[in-house]
Amino acid sequence: MDSRLRRREFFALAAAPLLRGMPTPIIKTVSVIATEPAGVRLVVVKVQTDQDGLYGYGCATFTQRADLVVEAVNRYLAPLVVGRPADAIEDLWQAMYNSSYWRNGPVLNNAISGIDQALWDIKGRQANMPVYQLLGGKCRRAALIYAHASGREIPEALEQARKLMSNGIKAVRLQVGVPGMAAYGAPGGPHNPPQASPQDAVFDPEAYVRRTLELFEAGRKELGPQVELLHDVHERVPPRLAVQFAKDMEQFRLFYLEDALSPENIDYFRQIRANCTTPLAMGELFNNPREWTPLIKDSLIDYIRVHVSQAGGLTPARQIAALAEAFQVRTAWHGPGDVSPIGHCANVTLDIVCPNFGIQEWTMPNDRLLEVFSGYPVMKDGYAYVNEKPGWGIEIDEKAAAKYPFGSFEEGEHKKRNGGWGVVRKPDGTVINQ
Ligand code: CO
Repeated sequence: MDSRLRRREFFALAAAPLLRGMPTPIIKTVSVIATEPAGVRLVVVKVQTDQDGLYGYGCATFTQRADLVVEAVNRYLAPLVVGRPADAIEDLWQAMYNSSYWRNGPVLNNAISGIDQALWDIKGRQANMPVYQLLGGKCRRAALIYAHASGREIPEALEQARKLMSNGIKAVRLQVGVPGMAAYGAPGGPHNPPQASPQDAVFDPEAYVRRTLELFEAGRKELGPQVELLHDVHERVPPRLAVQFAKDMEQFRLFYLEDALSPENIDYFRQIRANCTTPLAMGELFNNPREWTPLIKDSLIDYIRVHVSQAGGLTPARQIAALAEAFQVRTAWHGPGDVSPIGHCANVTLDIVCPNFGIQEWTMPNDRLLEVFSGYPVMKDGYAYVNEKPGWGIEIDEKAAAKYPFGSFEEGEHKKRNGGWGVVRKPDGTVINQ
């Protein structure tokens, strides 16, 4: 080779982006950060590579069984992935998913997500780009969010909604307590637990439906036609009542009605569809992307609800979004307090890269959460903005995280159950969905 050519090659190489000359990072250690700064157990996985300062974080939060996810990561996934290349994300996802033989459960999916999202973080940091750039870049500047308004009584719930709206929030989830019961998503009043099990909550589906219709009657009247309203049934009513309820709610023109049915009863979506135009959101309890397939391909829902870590991380979540896109179904990633800030960043990243984005559920971080995690997405005028730093753009103060071990801010039965949820019964004592 003549020396002039060699010189030219040398200059071309020197001018190429740094990434091209970088050796493949190898996974060196996998560790878990278990912390509870805001009263909810959060699990985050940290993957460190053999390259100095190149690491990543992933959300693995299944708050009701958090300790089990920690063990799944430490005892099964870490030994599988340490020593392997960190840059083959899809390949490692398939390897982790198949390595247990019995697969597709919430504990294992969350553990896989912790590593999957950490690998995306690593790839972003290596490329010096936010993850949204690796996925093709933004197709919108920010994500429309909805926030929660609730109250023991209807006027209190509407007052909260007004407060959110005066802060620029354009979509509000409304929930109200029901006298004598423990309602979902709203403070419960003093209630009479079933005599045989005084530690359990009591819930009457019929009373809840009547009360919620009153809430929306007042809500639409007082809050006006413009604000987007949402409601979460949390799969607490039997299917026949769910069909009637969705039909009765049609007049209030919801943005969507969430989890009207439990995953066990999804065949009833066909009946809801045949009876009303109320937009429907479903899926935060599904484990696998394929569980959405019948609902999406038959246009039986309008929004996919996905707890991204529960589905196994960013890698499968993108696939669900793409499947939904082909059928005009939009995204509404799960975003309450039992998603870690890493998970919220993954949500907003998906929001701004998926053409079929619908809406993003939003949780305001408290001061302790921001002490542990820096880089939380910023909310302004009802929209969430992802941060522009490489990877997820989140750093964790591990010393601060250690100040809030599991159990911090928990009391009574909740603490006794190791952060797990309790039991909900009908007034006659029958156990129902949470
Ligand atoms: Co929900």
